[in-house]
Amino acid sequence: MTGINELLYKKRFGGELSKEEIHDFVSGVTQKRFADYQISAMLMAIAVNGMSDRETVDLTMEMAASGDMLDLSALSGVKADKHSTGGVGDTTSLVLAPLVACCGVKIAKMSGRGLGFTGGTLDKLESIPGFSVSMSTERFMQTVETLGIAIIGQTASLAPADKILYALRDVTATVDVKPLIVSSILSKKIAAGADVIVLDVKCGSGAMMRTYEDAADLAKAMVAIGNRTGRKFAALITDMNQPLGRYVGNALEVREALDILSGKTGGELKTVSLALGAQILRLSGVVATAAEGVELLEKKIASGEGLQKFADMVQNQGGDPEAVFDPTRLPTAEKIVEVRAEKSGYLTGVHTNLIGYAAKALGAGREKKEDEIDPAAGLVMHARLGDRIKTGDLLAQLHIGRLSRLEEARACLRDALVFGDAPAEKPPLIYGEIE
Ligand code: URA
Ligand code: CA
Repeated sequence: MTGINELLYKKRFGGELSKEEIHDFVSGVTQKRFADYQISAMLMAIAVNGMSDRETVDLTMEMAASGDMLDLSALSGVKADKHSTGGVGDTTSLVLAPLVACCGVKIAKMSGRGLGFTGGTLDKLESIPGFSVSMSTERFMQTVETLGIAIIGQTASLAPADKILYALRDVTATVDVKPLIVSSILSKKIAAGADVIVLDVKCGSGAMMRTYEDAADLAKAMVAIGNRTGRKFAALITDMNQPLGRYVGNALEVREALDILSGKTGGELKTVSLALGAQILRLSGVVATAAEGVELLEKKIASGEGLQKFADMVQNQGGDPEAVFDPTRLPTAEKIVEVRAEKSGYLTGVHTNLIGYAAKALGAGREKKEDEIDPAAGLVMHARLGDRIKTGDLLAQLHIGRLSRLEEARACLRDALVFGDAPAEKPPLIYGEIE
């Protein structure tokens, strides 16, 4: 076994760590044999000197194996999962998961909670009265086999090495390091057991990657590394220069997903959800092209099968299935406050992260893991990039409750919207596909 000093020395001078050396590092981290400052020194050495693709593959697999690896191979058919790098009003999972499950591809999904300005799938699902995101592994497997869909929380034993490394990255300026992001995201997806994994890499003012170049770079790296792990990966690079959906907040986002599944509404959220779902169907061999996949998913909306599958999932996980057909049964805000334009012009820019912070100030999100959230809180955006706005036009509705800090939310929203005298170009919605 190679000691931590030797490992640090090698990476400090740009050496390539062998598979065994990476194993020694990750097992030392997981078993708490190394001090935080030693692990942090390695993170910084990786940040400065990088990692080869081979090292990143080995790091990913070692991190995945640092806890329980779910083996879904006993289940019939293809098991799929999806991951988003995180955004605002980004409810694609709730739309695409039931639709894909209706096409015979099994959705075995472990999701996370929201933190900072981004939302989390678990918080959204828990806004449905009674819905539980915890399930034993046996029942998870059984549910995926029989119902074809389960969305649950990540267990403590899922890639524990990532939890330790992530906490240290957060305080050592090593969050935005490509091999560390890639191994962090992929290790959790691989440990969760799916054969097919589709990544939604967000790009823009509400995303971890602000520019197209950075997002494409990350997407290419994740797909290249992912495809070397024995699973099938694809990625879409999609826009996050404004909230994807109109609704931002937990029960509000469930409502928008239900409106799409019931065929009541369309828009950007639907387009991106179906595009991601179509990638899953293509990688799973259900359709030959993504265009055919979108067509098939549209049929599952029109027939009502997608909405029914969502209701079945809700019922199976202890929630109120009636809320799926009658969203007025979801939590609603005590009060709705309108925000109107004070002058006229064109909406030329949106600081999407500030929209997320506005929703958080209303009680829809958390700053620290322990913070309480209000499922009903959030906002509905009425202005889109490029819109011509007249004085007095409705910009947003704030859904407020007991936890709301209204003035802070108003200030975030005011700072988030940039107006100009001339129309600005609208960004593309889907920038590209990486295979
Ligand atoms: N999300 C993760 O899970 N890990 C990262 O490193 C970045 C985003
Ligand atoms: Ca999300």
